[in-house]
Amino acid sequence: MTPAQLVLGIETSCDETAAAVVRRHADGRAEVLSSVVGSQVAAHAPYGGVVPEIAARAHVESIEAIAEAALAEAGVGYAALTGVAATAGPGLVGGVMVGLSFGKAVALARGLPLVAVNHLEGHAVSARLGADIAYPFLLLLVSGGHCQLLSVEGVGACRRLGSTLDDAAGEAFDKIAKALGLPYPGGPALEALADGGDAGAFQLPRMLLGRKDCDFSFSGLKTAAARLVEGVSGETQRRDLAAAVQAAIAGQLAEKSDRAMAAYALAHRGQGLRFVVAGGVAANRAVRARLEATATAGGFSFAAPPLAYCTDNAAMIALAGAERLALGISDGLDAVARPRWPLDEAAANANPIHTPGRKGAKA
Ligand code: KG4
Ligand code: ZN
Repeated sequence: MTPAQLVLGIETSCDETAAAVVRRHADGRAEVLSSVVGSQVAAHAPYGGVVPEIAARAHVESIEAIAEAALAEAGVGYAALTGVAATAGPGLVGGVMVGLSFGKAVALARGLPLVAVNHLEGHAVSARLGADIAYPFLLLLVSGGHCQLLSVEGVGACRRLGSTLDDAAGEAFDKIAKALGLPYPGGPALEALADGGDAGAFQLPRMLLGRKDCDFSFSGLKTAAARLVEGVSGETQRRDLAAAVQAAIAGQLAEKSDRAMAAYALAHRGQGLRFVVAGGVAANRAVRARLEATATAGGFSFAAPPLAYCTDNAAMIALAGAERLALGISDGLDAVARPRWPLDEAAANANPIHTPGRKGAKA
């Protein structure tokens, strides 16, 4: 049993300004009292992607109102909080600085401990917002900026098993969606178009299958899909191509996860085998279904966050902060905003893999 926590979470690392209040009970159970997400999609849509300067300015303009809304919805005042957790990276550094500075101001003014949260650790705990999931677990983190397999041993203790060599899966969804003329953000739009399509109508390359590791690659798929788009005409063909792309991405995620499950199971003999998928791409139903089948076949339980907590939100940041506070861990007011901040720093330093993601190289 660790002390109960009531934490205000702040998230501003990309194009969502978010605040949430989460209670972490003494037995470890998480309860989301509020989760407010102010999307900037409309501001960035004309540019087909996130513009860092526009994002940072929009965060400055809305962060205070969004934090107030989260507290009001939760029915708690600043005085009831036991801590503040703000994303300190990785991400677009201008935006990260806005949220982290706001978190520091609240901590200073209210005499609360601050936790400078790694955004990826937020995604890593996000499935715990919907279910009790014990450590350790195997995590597939798939978002717009990241695609990695991690063995999560405990709070802040991750070992990387594999990572993308080029694009993140969400980035592949977004770029191929753009080639298909779909609006930004492309992932959900491509999923909607793929509905009812025949995934077998198009042949797409299966990447890196000869390799024994757990690394991903999506650039060949992106190039092949872009070439196919040029020859496609009519709604049926577009739907079929979208379905084929979605199946190819889900297939690669499942194949590499399957390989990681074998390695993870060897290292965790006699322990419960849990597989968790998190990040924006975990919202995709075809991806979820494919991964669930893979997990079940591999003897793993399967968990994914509730849909609202797949894409960026502050509830996951609040929970990551609460887990640290429960262990007596907090950060000083000199915590810095970090554009790059790998979860497994040792692996990242030994074998740096740079992804030119929409948030810049950071994985
Ligand atoms: O986790 P997230 O909100 O931000 C990052 O930390 O990157 O993930 C956003 C990514 C985008 O690439 C978006 O297109 C993708 O997740 N995404 C989806 C779906 N919903 C969001 N991709 C496929 N299908 C979806 N339903
Ligand atoms: Zn994210």
